[in-house]
Amino acid sequence: MTDTAVTDAPALDAKLLAAYHVETVLWVKHWTDQLFSFAITRPASLRFRSGEFVMIGLPPAEGETRPVVRAYSVASPGFADDLEFLSIKVQDGPLTSRLQHIQPGDRVLLGKKPTGTLVLDALKPGKRLFLFGTGTGLAPFLSVARDPDAYARFGQVIVAHGVREIAELAYRDLFTAGIFEDPLVGEEAKAQLVYYPTVTREAFVHQGRFTDLIASGQLFRDLGLAEEKFNPVEDRIMLCGSMPFIKDMAALIESHGLKEGSNAEPGDFVLERAFVG
Ligand code: A2P
Repeated sequence: MTDTAVTDAPALDAKLLAAYHVETVLWVKHWTDQLFSFAITRPASLRFRSGEFVMIGLPPAEGETRPVVRAYSVASPGFADDLEFLSIKVQDGPLTSRLQHIQPGDRVLLGKKPTGTLVLDALKPGKRLFLFGTGTGLAPFLSVARDPDAYARFGQVIVAHGVREIAELAYRDLFTAGIFEDPLVGEEAKAQLVYYPTVTREAFVHQGRFTDLIASGQLFRDLGLAEEKFNPVEDRIMLCGSMPFIKDMAALIESHGLKEGSNAEPGDFVLERAFVG
């Protein structure tokens, strides 16, 4: 797929085009009044690793000189034809107040340099891969959990999504059904994927914050694991969510003996703050 120029839209200046691809919205799905997903065309020149993020924005409106852009984790895997994203809607948010109204055919700016630490290469080999995301922090794990490499590297992949209310469990159908039909990872997912949703402000099969579920041992019991702690030899973890969430989780995980990794020095866990505002 190549960059798409919509002929009847206003011309964009050369500086903008040097920094961003101009892509076309393919579809939009609204989960709740605060949460939506969308997909855009993928430029042939864009390379990224599953779990990375990229800048997303809208062309400047009349009278504006610069676009408002924000970091978004790509929710589709690195080999996908289209680029998928999961976003919150903030009514007075500089970008999402407008982005939530996009329609198929609209133009979206896409940064040219994907980056990030929620990548398999930043983790040492292990037995189990835990992907803990709260709210839109699920996005990078939609990418990692749909990448065959995750199943090649780990015996078990646990997608753990924490939200306030059941309606916010976006992609629940994917992780309970759709992914098992995926031609690339379906068979692996059937054997190796575990989906662990938890809700904090409504009654649900799993209830409570991840920090509490880990501290009490409930998470490990629910998963049928022998130990009620993370094992620094076998367990690898990725975290994505609000600042307080990743801070509290990182402290807890470190208390179990796991060490943070990076692209330069792979470790036992990696983290990234989810897009906000
Ligand atoms: P809670 O409902 O108890 O605040 P948010 O939308 O605020 O990012 O929250 C998403 C989910 O993450 C909610 O279930 C929320 O629980 C939980 N959460 C928020 N902060 C933390 C934290 N510091 N540690 C663990 N879980 C958290």
